[in-house]
Amino acid sequence: MSLKSKHLLGLEDKTKGEILEILDTAKSFRKILDRPVRKVPTLRGITVANLFFEASTRTRTSFELAEKRLSSEVVNFSASTSSLSKGESLRDTVENIEAMQVDIVVMRHSAPGAPHFLSKRIKAAVVNAGDGTHEHPTQGLLDLYTIREYFPKLEGLKVVIVGDIKHSRVARSDIWGLNKLGADVALCGPPTLIPLGIEKMGVKVYHDLDKAIKGANVLYLLRLQLERQKGGFIPSLREYTQLFGINSEKLKLLSDDYIVMHPGPMNRGVEITQEVADCDRAVILRQVTNGVAVRMAVLYLSASLIRPLEK
Ligand code: NCD
Repeated sequence: MSLKSKHLLGLEDKTKGEILEILDTAKSFRKILDRPVRKVPTLRGITVANLFFEASTRTRTSFELAEKRLSSEVVNFSASTSSLSKGESLRDTVENIEAMQVDIVVMRHSAPGAPHFLSKRIKAAVVNAGDGTHEHPTQGLLDLYTIREYFPKLEGLKVVIVGDIKHSRVARSDIWGLNKLGADVALCGPPTLIPLGIEKMGVKVYHDLDKAIKGANVLYLLRLQLERQKGGFIPSLREYTQLFGINSEKLKLLSDDYIVMHPGPMNRGVEITQEVADCDRAVILRQVTNGVAVRMAVLYLSASLIRPLEK
């Protein structure tokens, strides 16, 4: 086993070997999802707490399914029902949860670094389910998993991420992961939505959509994260769609073997037309299915660093 830490805080601190180990483990869990009974006893006796301090439907559901399919005990905890709204600190909340003898904490928080803070203070393994605009490592992993289903060799693969990079934790995790596996990553969006100096992460930056996507194998679309923007980043949604929206015409610029990806939630009619969202090359729902298998792998590997498990 090459995985060095029981925590999954981000892809920045994972090696290529560790990433490949998670993806390979996910492959065996993916097979379970196609069986009539999609459940294994692997995590029996392991307790997982889902701590979602920020709205989430898809990621929370995906983690919960992964936990249940592995037969772990699951407790759900959301900010609105917790004592955090009564003024308790994050540290106190978590110490209380830990006193209940939880093995793994899955956490989403609006503050970048919140899961890192936690991981230094508790015994349980911490899995980051999205920390502010910083990282969303399980999304990055499920994206890598899905890309590898279509393109087994990532070396030299042309991936273009279009949209609101500035507010996207998905983009950051994808960039770390794709770079480590050898893909060529380009970013495209209005200058106000691409952080200055991001080229240092080893990516090319374009502000012209046609130039950016020409010959790309993977077109990865992001929504405008309007809830994170304080306003004023783009003149209007209509102008954004005109300059950066993807319609069927744009797909002709891609390489012949392209796929279209999106982490969801999609804003149909803004960054993507109905037609593109529903076309054969859009693998958006496959990403969702693969997400459950990847999260099963992450939980399994974390748990096996806590105590020996049967597979
Ligand atoms: C992403 C997120 O929360 O960062 N969505 C998700 O995980 N399902 C992307 C987004 O919100 O646009």
